[in-house]
Amino acid sequence: MSVTILAIESSCDDTSVAVIRDGYVLSNLIANQDIHMSYGGVVPELASRAHQANIVPVTHQAIKNAGIKVEEINAVAFTRGPGLLGSLLVGTSFAKGFALALDIPLIEVNHLQAHVMAHFILDKDKENRIPSFPFLCLLVSGGHTRIIVMKSHLEMEVIGNTIDDAAGEAFDKCGKVMGFPYPAGPLIDKLAKEGNKNAYTFARPSVKGLDFSFSGLKTSFLYFLRDRIKEDPDFIEKHKADLCASLQHVIVSILIGKLTKASLQTGISEIGIAGGVSANSGLRNGMKDEAEKRNWNLFIPEFKYTTDNAAMIGITGYYKYLRGEFSGQDVTPLARL
Ligand code: KG4
Ligand code: ZN
Repeated sequence: MSVTILAIESSCDDTSVAVIRDGYVLSNLIANQDIHMSYGGVVPELASRAHQANIVPVTHQAIKNAGIKVEEINAVAFTRGPGLLGSLLVGTSFAKGFALALDIPLIEVNHLQAHVMAHFILDKDKENRIPSFPFLCLLVSGGHTRIIVMKSHLEMEVIGNTIDDAAGEAFDKCGKVMGFPYPAGPLIDKLAKEGNKNAYTFARPSVKGLDFSFSGLKTSFLYFLRDRIKEDPDFIEKHKADLCASLQHVIVSILIGKLTKASLQTGISEIGIAGGVSANSGLRNGMKDEAEKRNWNLFIPEFKYTTDNAAMIGITGYYKYLRGEFSGQDVTPLARL
């Protein structure tokens, strides 16, 4: 019997709904919220309001695009957390109502686990390379930077974590200092392509073990610019590309450095990256070079599965469905998990 999951993701500022059948994506829709760009970050209240407006039409369209009837859905998977509470409440309440109305199981999904599980999403007419276990994955998003060992589909161990900012925050906060709109990561990536990565050097943190720290880099970047602007008020505008290339280079080399250390420590060479920052071209290329050098079996997700999407919630929900891991109607979202 085939298993069809309706998946809802609403942890931050994207309302996404997907339909997954037996691990294959039938549809995956994302409604972005441009409203936050001019505020320099996600405004929680505006985000929950936009989710409220988007969730029904996006679900309707996702089911339509999947070409299925509502009665064919076997379970509803939703993001329980971590994320913004007001945003999570919209997706959670909607999923509960949907499951109740159809009398089908409800499946809660951890957003971070789902980012890693994105590597197991199957697409029709694709090669669909998937990692085997144990799988070592660098999860880099706007809120998290972790090194994770996946022992099975639903068994994960965190072996490295950031002690302050996430890698995505480093991109976004440094971008904000340069006057870029939120989120700054994609623009820094684009400008970096035209710049010299060795033009400037910024403070590199020295954190023990497999943990990360990015707040010192942000401060070093801020002070560096403050001094240069004193000499030339147009410094940022004139040197944007070099600034972005140098900043990206530092962040990427910190990430790859720690992941390499983790691989050597654990002996795992089945390696991947996941989360919004894994869309970064510097990181993707850097990983390919490192993989070649070290003989890693490398997994880089497709762009559409790097940033927040419901397909990753659906694939995690699918494996939880197979194990009969369901939630009750009394489940509530958790901002922190
Ligand atoms: O995973 P995600 O969509 O949301 C969270 O769960 O946080 O990640 C969003 C983060 C933002 O910080 C954004 O700037 C960053 O991913 N990002 C990038 C790129 N695309 C998205 N950072 C660097 N380069 C990119 N191309
Ligand atoms: Zn995310």
